[in-house]
Amino acid sequence: MSVPAVDLTVCPDRLESDLGALAQLVETDHPGWTRTALGPVDREARELVRRWMADVGLETSVDGAGNLFGRLRGTGSGGHSLMVGSHTDSVIGGGRFDGIVGVVGALEAVRVLRESGRQLEHDLVVVDFFNEEPNEFGLSCVGSRAMVGELTGDHLGLRDDQGRTLADALEGVGIDPAGALGAGYDFSGVDTFLELHIEQGPYLEAQGSQVGLVESITGISRFRALFTGQADHAGTAPMDRRRDAGCAAAGTVLAVERIAAEGDHTKGTSGQVTFTPAAVNVVTAHAEFRGEFRGPEGEWLRHAQERLTAAAGEEGHRRGVDVEVDWLPLQEPAPMSDPVLATLTEVVDGLGLTSSRLFSGAEHDAAVLARRVPTGMLFVPSRDGRSHCPEEWTDLADVTAGVTALTQALIALDRRGKP
Ligand code: GLV
Ligand code: MN
Ligand code: MN
Repeated sequence: MSVPAVDLTVCPDRLESDLGALAQLVETDHPGWTRTALGPVDREARELVRRWMADVGLETSVDGAGNLFGRLRGTGSGGHSLMVGSHTDSVIGGGRFDGIVGVVGALEAVRVLRESGRQLEHDLVVVDFFNEEPNEFGLSCVGSRAMVGELTGDHLGLRDDQGRTLADALEGVGIDPAGALGAGYDFSGVDTFLELHIEQGPYLEAQGSQVGLVESITGISRFRALFTGQADHAGTAPMDRRRDAGCAAAGTVLAVERIAAEGDHTKGTSGQVTFTPAAVNVVTAHAEFRGEFRGPEGEWLRHAQERLTAAAGEEGHRRGVDVEVDWLPLQEPAPMSDPVLATLTEVVDGLGLTSSRLFSGAEHDAAVLARRVPTGMLFVPSRDGRSHCPEEWTDLADVTAGVTALTQALIALDRRGKP
């Protein structure tokens, strides 16, 4: 079955202009399009988004966790709403589309609805979630976690490499940590959450599909590994008497790769590796890195945690290096709502767009909201599957098709009510 499309026109020029304006607000000391949530530019970008929200007639507000909301009042009196949005922060050296497409797309949907004179019965709440990308404390989806009441005191106590806490860093960007902990959102009236996003992988392009219909979002398990050995002279310390923390860390990095390669659709990645002292002629005394596993099965993630902790212990044991592996709470895989997926499918078919169903290996605020609200996600293709890099690209025609599908889906969901 397909849903007949309503007559309305998304404006590619406006999308291009909004994407271009946000692309100007970046941290210029990094490559690509960098706008880290705890960095110096993010607040300015979010203030721009707030002005855009106000310009299209949304009532704006910011919660205690820095999430930015714009509400379009509906005609209904039942206090029901549809929520739509994504994020505008980026990874260091990232691209111009990750997250941003979902925010400018939601704003364009509002413009199109208003121009068409069509009023929704539901309130429409556009969200620019604070800090979706993993920050220097290893925590992602800070804003959406706070909304679902899953931001904790332990999270705020996480430390970066300089020993600063996340609470300190939040204060540094004007967010009161206590306010962040109290930023739970009342989802009782929210019937559906929708997020439009770039695919960030090669599947849609390979399939020749204009739109991706997300079936589920990956689970993630992140850790921080600390290795403590002993500094020694690089030229005189015998190889068999060294306690080289760098080698134990390197062996563990390779274990991450090995474990992930053995699963099905599973991934393992290590980053942020530091050796101290960082000197070519000193045996490494301390090493530290952060890593993660991803996959469609929570059980596999738990198994990977056990194996990696054991592998790190073995790497340390045979080198006389002390090892500590701290795991963040595991993020379970998030299936999308079947009824929402069915509506999205009917809408996309009604528009005559080519589509594929797929699994998201990238994490999204949608995975967090799915724990409280029936949730759906639409993807648009990423050129060469590239993302989290300056080469990240999605053609404007594809963004436009995605925003058209998003707008039509909001109309269809408004008619259908709670799935
Ligand atoms: C976010 O983009 C992630 O998947 O890490
Ligand atoms: Mn990202
Ligand atoms: Mn994203």
